[in-house]
Amino acid sequence: MTTVNAVNKMTEVISVISGKGGVGKTTVTANLADNLTKKGKSVLVIDANISGANMGIHVNMLETQADLNSVLAGVDTLDNAVCMHPQGFHFLPASINTAGPSMRGFSAIISNLVGHYDYILVDTAAGADDEVKEAIKASDSVLIVTNPDIPSVSNAALVKRLATNLGKPTRGIVLNMARGEYLELTDKQISEFMDAEVISKIPFHKNVKQSTVFGKSVHEYSPRCPPSIAISQLAGKICGDETEKSNFLRTFASKIPGLNR
Ligand SMILES: Nc1ncnc2c1ncn2[C@@H]1O[C@H](COP(=O)(O)OP(=O)(O)O)[C@@H](O)[C@H]1O
Ligand SMILES: [Mg+2]
Repeated sequence: MTTVNAVNKMTEVISVISGKGGVGKTTVTANLADNLTKKGKSVLVIDANISGANMGIHVNMLETQADLNSVLAGVDTLDNAVCMHPQGFHFLPASINTAGPSMRGFSAIISNLVGHYDYILVDTAAGADDEVKEAIKASDSVLIVTNPDIPSVSNAALVKRLATNLGKPTRGIVLNMARGEYLELTDKQISEFMDAEVISKIPFHKNVKQSTVFGKSVHEYSPRCPPSIAISQLAGKICGDETEKSNFLRTFASKIPGLNR
């Protein structure tokens, strides 16, 4: 395996899921991996969207030796398929040319990887089909990505129910592509409807789309833009390191005379 990390880590396996496609799962997963790595965590990103892989595009790694599809098919080894991303995290790609085989066997693959990383982030297909179900089954918890509109949230509720039925807790909801528009659902409405906390609100921003086109993380492309800060805060919440928030508060307090004594 690519530069094996120390074994016996307390690995947390998180599937990033959604009801609808195009809500930003792959974007959130890729950027979360980049941010957790920056916070000193060892991370493996898995593209488990074997019927429509595109994590390779997001992280600009399309020329890989082997992939999850060929490992699942038993024709390649994990050692060949896990590669190192220049930003420091590991990446297990899926094939962009072939769909399938089935995801049955994914849990066994995860078992072989647990202990080597702090976090394994599993990017999934949209919806609640078997491909997604196998990813959820192999995970400790799920992170649900939705946009602030009724179709997106109602489908997200279905996939949350699938995770709950499989005994997997929801780590939180990521409300992506928030534009603050009239009639957009609020965090509170979404939390109430889904019975889970909105732990991150990532604004819609052209730089996110541009960063995808260039195969960069938002942080690398535009570190100070609002989505970049939101994703960094999300990473802080996931790993319990919210220094960015406290740094911000400290800076803010230092600007108010008498407050920072
Ligand atoms: N916050 C955002 N602002 C603007 N564009 C975004 C944002 N999040 C994701 N996108 C863009 O939306 C498109 C779909 O995102 P993607 O992560 O591939 O969705 P999914 O994996 O859920 O299908 C990509 O082009 C991505 O750059
Ligand atoms: Mg995707």
